[in-house]
Amino acid sequence: MDTETAAKNGIALLTLAEKFVEKSLLALLVLIPVGVLYFSMYKIWPGLELQPHDFKAVTVQPLAPEHSTPRLLRISRGESEVRQVVFAKVHKAASTTVQNILLRFSVFRALNILLSKRQHQIGERTDLIQGIVPHPEGNNKTFDILCVHLIFNASNVAKFFSDSAIRIAILREPLKQTVSALAYYSKNFPSKILKRGRAKHPQDPINGFLRHPEDFYDFGNGPAFSYVNNRMSVDLGFDRTNFETGKTNVSKIEAFIKQVEEQFDLVLISDYFDESMVLMRRYLNWAMKDIIYIKRNAAHFPKDSVWHRDINRNATVMERFRTWNLIDYKLYEHFEPKFLDTIKQEQLFKEEVSAYAEILSKVSNFCLRDAARTKIFHIPESEWTEEFAVTEFDCKLMLLSEMKFIKYARLLQRARFNQTNNKMYEGKVHK
Ligand SMILES: *[C@@H]1O[C@H](CO)[C@@H](O)[C@H](O)[C@H]1NC(C)=O
Ligand SMILES: *[C@@H]1O[C@H](CO)[C@@H](O)[C@H](O)[C@H]1NC(C)=O
Ligand SMILES: *[C@@H]1O[C@H](CO)[C@@H](O)[C@H](O)[C@H]1NC(C)=O
Ligand SMILES: *[C@@H]1O[C@H](CO)[C@@H](O)[C@H](O)[C@H]1NC(C)=O
Ligand SMILES: *[C@@H]1O[C@H](CO)[C@@H](O)[C@H](O)[C@H]1NC(C)=O
Repeated sequence: MDTETAAKNGIALLTLAEKFVEKSLLALLVLIPVGVLYFSMYKIWPGLELQPHDFKAVTVQPLAPEHSTPRLLRISRGESEVRQVVFAKVHKAASTTVQNILLRFSVFRALNILLSKRQHQIGERTDLIQGIVPHPEGNNKTFDILCVHLIFNASNVAKFFSDSAIRIAILREPLKQTVSALAYYSKNFPSKILKRGRAKHPQDPINGFLRHPEDFYDFGNGPAFSYVNNRMSVDLGFDRTNFETGKTNVSKIEAFIKQVEEQFDLVLISDYFDESMVLMRRYLNWAMKDIIYIKRNAAHFPKDSVWHRDINRNATVMERFRTWNLIDYKLYEHFEPKFLDTIKQEQLFKEEVSAYAEILSKVSNFCLRDAARTKIFHIPESEWTEEFAVTEFDCKLMLLSEMKFIKYARLLQRARFNQTNNKMYEGKVHK
């Protein structure tokens, strides 16, 4: 059985199991305290577990031979595809779409991803890397792909990834990024403090925030607990001690920008998303098929929602917000022109981006409209790509939510761990 069919089986099983878990959980919650349930779920409901033989079908492709990819600036394009990628998943900067691309790339090559055992992220509040799914080939092996949330700390990350892994970050225009985070978290995961801000500014929370960001922020908890205080810089590792003082310190901010410059090979800009993906593909020497996507995780609000109020962009308001979000502004103002400059120097770049956009729209039409009927779709060979097929399974993966995809990737990795360690039919869940 080929990998794709096998993976397909895996995903179908996963969906089934998830439905079952959802229903059973509801029933269980009535009977047993939540803590006990979570702790002993496997023991109480052995039937819920995906069985090892369900995964027997997954053909584990051998990893590509260890090739030491030189640092980005030194690579001569046209070598084999880069398979080791560290992606700093910055909040609300289209990073879930990039994550989906990286996850798909990993699934089809049986790459090992740094994943948390339980959550869909390693940590949003700390830069510690712990509680991870073991590497199938042993504890001192480096992983191939990082694409889940954590607060970036280069020396911690270096414990899990080879120095030759390409480091990529992504940024978004700070006003858009913050407003998007404010709306998204207020709607989906409202903290006490976001609710407080909302209550103070019920009719117009965005403009309320821009004028009074402190109403939506808990100074006691600090920036790792917030998504609306320079979150991009926090994600990329800006020092969180004495944060409010730090963000008025221009030389500290400049040193941080220099650090990002040194720690990352490529800083993408999500406001130029397709350009970013084309640039990434060129640097990683990936195929066009590797970077196709269907846009995900974009916030949807009804037209009359308070989250659609026009933003008051008068100078006073913008200056207030800029002061609040100064680190992110400085960071963006450094890397956005740099990005534009980089793509300007690329040859035939615009041409490739429009070819890409055309392919994306065909893929999207196929996946959202025709996939159930036609099953497979061919993108013909052109100057920009070899011929490739998009299957129903590709569509499914592109449309998979972050949480589901992470669960699926974790199961594949555990199956690979079992296979490598010949533990397929032993009784215990490994630690
Ligand atoms: C760790 O690496 C050493 C050599 O680099 C090797 O001998 C050893 O077997 C490895 N241990 C595991 C658990 O993979
Ligand atoms: C990264 O983590 C280490 C501990 O592992 C810590 O000593 C160091 O200060 C951290 N670096 C930054 C920039 O926060
Ligand atoms: C600003 O940051 C730099 C570098 O971290 C530090 O040496 C300096 O003391 C800071 N200045 C103030 C006024 O806090
Ligand atoms: C900007 O808007 C704020 C809030 O509506 C208002 O108080 C302020 O006077 C305006 N400033 C200018 C320069 O228009
Ligand atoms: C891996 O093996 C353990 C037992 O050693 C088993 O409980 C678990 O279900 C297996 N996982 C997968 C994904 O095959």
